[in-house]
Amino acid sequence: MPDTMVTQNKTRESSLVVDDRENGLFRVNRKAFLDEEILHMEREKIFNRCWLFLGHASELPNPNDFVTRNVGGKELIFNRDRKGEFHAFLNTCPHRGAMVERQESGNSIAFKCFYHGWAFNNNGNYATRHQKGTYPENFNHDGCANLIPVKLEQYRDFFFVNYDDGANSLDSYLADAKIIFDLIDQHGPDGMEVVGGAQKYSIRSNWKLLMENSYDGYHALDTHETYFKYLTEAIGGPAEMPKVTNVMNLKNGHASIEGDAPWGRPVAKWIPAWGENAKSEVEEIKREVVSRVGAERANRICQLGRNTGIFPNLVINDIMAITIRTFYPVEPGVMNVTAWALGVKGEKRDFRKRRLDNFLEFLGPGGFATPDDVEALESAYRGYAAYKLAPWNDISRGMSRGQGEPFKADDEEQMRCFWREWDRRMGGE
Ligand code: FES
Ligand code: FE
Repeated sequence: MPDTMVTQNKTRESSLVVDDRENGLFRVNRKAFLDEEILHMEREKIFNRCWLFLGHASELPNPNDFVTRNVGGKELIFNRDRKGEFHAFLNTCPHRGAMVERQESGNSIAFKCFYHGWAFNNNGNYATRHQKGTYPENFNHDGCANLIPVKLEQYRDFFFVNYDDGANSLDSYLADAKIIFDLIDQHGPDGMEVVGGAQKYSIRSNWKLLMENSYDGYHALDTHETYFKYLTEAIGGPAEMPKVTNVMNLKNGHASIEGDAPWGRPVAKWIPAWGENAKSEVEEIKREVVSRVGAERANRICQLGRNTGIFPNLVINDIMAITIRTFYPVEPGVMNVTAWALGVKGEKRDFRKRRLDNFLEFLGPGGFATPDDVEALESAYRGYAAYKLAPWNDISRGMSRGQGEPFKADDEEQMRCFWREWDRRMGGE
């Protein structure tokens, strides 16, 4: 298990992030959310260099399956070839640039550009037959007419791309965050699958605010008051505040909060609202998980949940359901969000239904949480219009803890992990 975070006795100040460890103060200048030039630097120094989540293996169950999506500002094809090998290609035609595949998903042994008809096998090789004499005999001898592959690596069933040829391996990048993927993958004996495609929406706010929000234990009771009232009725008693037992610095800007909460977990945490009949089924699942991974890990999988941020923009929230989401800036004050629900492969119908109900109830774009969070993020962004008069965000909560004293549920250490890495990559040190 990764170490609980320890605040080192170190103080540093760049112009946008003040990390004053002696006085227990951490501040971020609101210019970091507003400035076009900063967004340009983020594209160069973060999105063009970090490992970015591309997709989950379950989205391509069969040979020749493909999906297309924009990752870090670049259009990509994520696919499997005839032999079942996974690939990622830039979705731009080597001829004159048009998008080669324009469907969001499908199954195809080849891709054909709609502009002038160039064709490619699904391993990326140029496969166009031109009339003799149209191009030189040795045309494409250097592969210049093939689809351009993108550096692709996977951890368990999660695929990531990286646009930096010199990047270190995904394994070293994920560092201690690998445990989060392990815990997700072990929910069921056959792993996990994306359920029902993706949900896409936009928020009029800066992308970094959604990262902060996604593992912010401090806001839950205030922002989501309505949900907790509803939960009180649903579980037939007062819904207590989620209890965070472990705040984890997973290195390289990744962080997670882990804890117990009043809601049921379809993997195997029963609540009375599900009825007595479901109880024995839940116990049976729990026994299977214990036999597979041991009691301690089974407790983390079944009983506890986690809100995790993988730097720079992958959120994995394994709480009353599992959502993974990424979000990219369109401009400093607008982001596009894509969210997926994960479920246990082969899980029983009732459990899948509870999982999807839980997902929609809290995490979905029309649920109890997401609209609240969107409003909080958009209102914060509106407030930043006055940044010259009110220039700083405070992220100091609990900063003086950490010298042997564990961080708490409503501390902000996980956000400081993000911002220290952001600052380091943007050239603050
Ligand atoms: Fe694709 Fe011309 S741009 S064939
Ligand atoms: Fe929230």
